[in-house]
Amino acid sequence: KSPFKNAAVLSDSYSSEASELADIEWDNLGFGLLPTDYMYMMKCSQGGNFSKGELQRFGNIELNPSAGVLNYGQGLFEGLKAYRKEDGNILLFRPEENALRMRQGAERMCMPAPTVDQFVEAVKETVLANKRWVPPPGKGSLYIRPLLMGSGAVLGLAPAPEYTFLIYVSPVGNYFKEGVAPINLIVEHELHRATPGGTGGVKTIGNYAAVLKAQSAAKAKGYSDVLYLDCVHKKYLEEVSSCNIFVVKGDVISTPAIKGTILPGITRKSIIDVARSQGFQVEERFVPVDELLDADEVFCTGTAVVVSPVGSITYKGKRVSYGVDGFGAVAQQLYSVLTRLQMGLIDDKMDWTVEL
Ligand code: COI
Repeated sequence: KSPFKNAAVLSDSYSSEASELADIEWDNLGFGLLPTDYMYMMKCSQGGNFSKGELQRFGNIELNPSAGVLNYGQGLFEGLKAYRKEDGNILLFRPEENALRMRQGAERMCMPAPTVDQFVEAVKETVLANKRWVPPPGKGSLYIRPLLMGSGAVLGLAPAPEYTFLIYVSPVGNYFKEGVAPINLIVEHELHRATPGGTGGVKTIGNYAAVLKAQSAAKAKGYSDVLYLDCVHKKYLEEVSSCNIFVVKGDVISTPAIKGTILPGITRKSIIDVARSQGFQVEERFVPVDELLDADEVFCTGTAVVVSPVGSITYKGKRVSYGVDGFGAVAQQLYSVLTRLQMGLIDDKMDWTVEL
């Protein structure tokens, strides 16, 4: 049974526990699950609305073997981060954007979804309950993983009769083992991540299982990850398994346009706005794979990866390298503005952060 009824009770009775830091080694966090104290659960039936959720101790969940999510992949996830500021307060980054994206995905996957307010309140409660797991400033962030799944039993193919919205969290550092060093990508030209009319534009769980084969093969050859091309022309850049891609040439930054087969990344959207505010021209359009050949810089964006410089891209056996060891100048500038904003180190003129 949940010890908490709401965040107010939580902050009264658990403030001392919540204000301490968990006793772990905070240096060199990677991107792996560290079990934390609480998770959030809220259920609703098909055709109904989510009403009241609650915090529970973090742990395994029970599912009927016939649950829609297990049998037919009726599930979505989200990812967002919380940062601890120097003054101890916690900042969330654009949580309402994740709530909206989950609602769009739920519509595509025939699921009911929490309202934006329910989503954001649930994120806040979960982060406050796990406050001691938010890394100290400069050591990383608390990764927040909301899930929405068909948890009810269903044997014939149909939407599940019951849905569960769940949030768990884990402290994280850099996503790629390279840290902030450039990653090496290989362009996949046989397997595809998404098809027109499919689900590539929503954050459904199956999109991520579908990339594991190419990703495993790429990693076995020493690459960091895979860059996908469109499945119709096999020519235009789409995205990397877990992040969006940007190509820099002079003062122009190009990124594949959102057209149903590309995940509309919240970091992608934020970087576009940051870049424009810094005087860059940003083009959202079809980006032919050939443009990688004479690009000045390439970088990836995502909640998990933040901004990751790309050191090289291999396409049909030919390798193109960019710059030297670290960030290119453009990626560095955008990374620096975005992360300082997310960590509360500069004025949030965009009104993107939510302070807890
Ligand atoms: C994220 O960046 O939050 C994602 O959802 C990507 C995931 C594969 C780690």
